[in-house]
Amino acid sequence: MQSKKKLIAGNWKMNGSLAANQTLLDAIVAGMADAQCDVAVAVPAPYLAQVQAQVSGSLIGVAAQDVSAHESGAYTGEVSASMLKEHGVRYVLVGHSERRQYHHESDADVAQKAQRALAAGITPIVCVGETLQEREAGETEAVVKRQLAAVIHLNGHCISEIVVAYEPVWAIGTGRTASPEQAQAVHAVLRTQLAAASEHADRIRLLYGGSMNAANAAQLLAQPDIDGGLVGGASLKAPDFLQIIHAAR
Ligand code: PGA
Repeated sequence: MQSKKKLIAGNWKMNGSLAANQTLLDAIVAGMADAQCDVAVAVPAPYLAQVQAQVSGSLIGVAAQDVSAHESGAYTGEVSASMLKEHGVRYVLVGHSERRQYHHESDADVAQKAQRALAAGITPIVCVGETLQEREAGETEAVVKRQLAAVIHLNGHCISEIVVAYEPVWAIGTGRTASPEQAQAVHAVLRTQLAAASEHADRIRLLYGGSMNAANAAQLLAQPDIDGGLVGGASLKAPDFLQIIHAAR
């Protein structure tokens, strides 16, 4: 398999302030000089310009947390992929479980968002994951495959340009992490699905997300099909986020 750099992406969710962002990023930039992985931070849209200015010249890539499924027009409140691109955005989360759950985003919406991002030259980080109820019903594999299939179907061979994040909903923000074996098992399923869709599937980075922290990151990142992490809570604390970055090699 072709070797690829791991990717550690922080997801700030709806947290931050101009002052807090500056302090957090200063500490991260200062501490990551010898990082061996790619690093990104997904920040609230009003902070994209601030963060882009502050990380320019560093190895940190700017990420957005969502993108409109539409190109432009009468969609009040939406932000388009081309607008993100103008702000130097390199990655965008699509289909985060909080968007699927609270904003009723469908698999088709998520696929469309991924397509808009790719068309603008932004790498979509496509989030998939099952709820606790679905896991207990033995539906994990079927759920994540259905979610990813929609994105593969619409995006065809461009699929090799995406990043996928497996985030079991029951592990997000709960302190309950999937075990490395549980995570690896799902990642292997996703890898096989991607391989059937693209001959370049080995290039696609599969991130694990869901209560990844300084203590459990190394073990998760040691799994053969875990190519990085999507980190929520721990990405808001510079020492914790740096420890995760240093665990990725
Ligand atoms: P968490 O969030 O690390 O706080 O569980 C992960 C995510 O929602 O991306």
